[in-house]
Amino acid sequence: MTTSGSDVSVESVVRGVVARHRDQRGALLPVLHAVQAELGHVPQEAIPVLAEELNLSRADVHGVVTFYHDFRREPAGRTTVRICRAEACQALGADSLVRHARESGLTLGETTADGSVTVEQVFCLGNCALGPSVEANGRLYGRVGPARLGSILNGTVSS
Ligand code: FES
Repeated sequence: MTTSGSDVSVESVVRGVVARHRDQRGALLPVLHAVQAELGHVPQEAIPVLAEELNLSRADVHGVVTFYHDFRREPAGRTTVRICRAEACQALGADSLVRHARESGLTLGETTADGSVTVEQVFCLGNCALGPSVEANGRLYGRVGPARLGSILNGTVSS
């Protein structure tokens, strides 16, 4: 379930997630993934609650959230486009996609002001042979060039 965050207490969500994962070894990563699955991102106010619940420092939790590209610190846009920048896709032209996104006014890791699109980088989507690979709202696209990325970004892509 993804919520806007305003109708659900971040603290209660985080405490509930921790309760389900507390006994897991290395619980922080699965907890962070679960918090993002429930809230759509890992909000700043979740960090002190996570630190307290998992007996970690706030700096430890913050460090993990900022180190892993998978964790979003702001709510995502209505469409989330993830461009693969791992080695195989780089070799097949992923940089041209990143350049196209930038030239279209999109910044990796950010959401457009109107909340329509979030563009993120990711490191392997498991589609290496058909790179450059892009995922948009959970749908995987292969052999994506700049023109097709433009169609994905504006929602007019054909399958
Ligand atoms: S390297 Fe891009 S999908 Fe694996």
